[in-house]
Amino acid sequence: MGIEVSNVTVRFGGITALSEVSVSLSPGQIVAVIGANGSGKSTLFNSITGLVSVASGSIRIDDDEVIRIPPHRRIAGGLARTFQTPRFDPRITVEKAVLCGFYPVARSGFVRSLLHTPGSAREERTIRRECDGILALFKLDKLRSVPMGELPMGQVRLVEVARSVANKPKYLLLDEPAAGLTRVEQELLSAEIRNLVARGVGVLLVEHNFNLVQQLSEHVVVLDRGSILFTGAPAELAGNRAFVDAYLGTSGH
Ligand SMILES: Nc1ncnc2c1ncn2[C@@H]1O[C@H](COP(=O)(O)OP(=O)(O)O)[C@@H](O)[C@H]1O
Ligand SMILES: [Mg+2]
Repeated sequence: MGIEVSNVTVRFGGITALSEVSVSLSPGQIVAVIGANGSGKSTLFNSITGLVSVASGSIRIDDDEVIRIPPHRRIAGGLARTFQTPRFDPRITVEKAVLCGFYPVARSGFVRSLLHTPGSAREERTIRRECDGILALFKLDKLRSVPMGELPMGQVRLVEVARSVANKPKYLLLDEPAAGLTRVEQELLSAEIRNLVARGVGVLLVEHNFNLVQQLSEHVVVLDRGSILFTGAPAELAGNRAFVDAYLGTSGH
């Protein structure tokens, strides 16, 4: 069980964005990925979700090789992610944005929902109820009718995380979810991540804030120009602030 990235290499033309990278993630575990800008963190996520093709190596999800499996099937199989720069239609409401997260696995499918069969009406009620639960969890219920274009970036990121958990993923990849969040929003997000993990979700977390990394994860992977520089407990890095500063590309707050 888990996600097993083994010796993955990704190239963009002449650039080697990932070089023989191996990372594993178990259910109920948080693994943090840190590294300066351009070190390959988002590319690692893109290779797991199938948005970039892998030159060599293997990616197994729950023991199935997924290298040749298209992204939508990886997502239907229990994988979810957030994007470093969330893109929502600015006109859709917060509620619609979160509802979007449900549809890929809605059981009755698009054809039945177009026909408005009783089964799909029942399913829609269930989805709306679950959506209300998620909005409440992320304290977004009062904002449900606000268009996405009117939210500050911190709240857009919270909506992005809320959307990503709608399908009850087994594995969740969070790409800098805390960037731009207020301290209160960050605490809300940390608590939610902990809840998900307590329920057995495996979380891969790209995060610049080393304090958050230390709070949340027992295992950290440091990427440097596409290669793994360190893998181990965050505590082993905490004593070496210069190292952290150099490889986070920020002061680590
Ligand atoms: N789609 C792409 N096409 C070309 N180069 C890319 C693409 N995506 C990423 N890269 C390059 O790959 C390297 C790693 O990028 P990225 O994974 O986004 O790093 P990070 O998320 O750690 O900032 C960078 O040199 C970046 O310019
Ligand atoms: Mg990135």
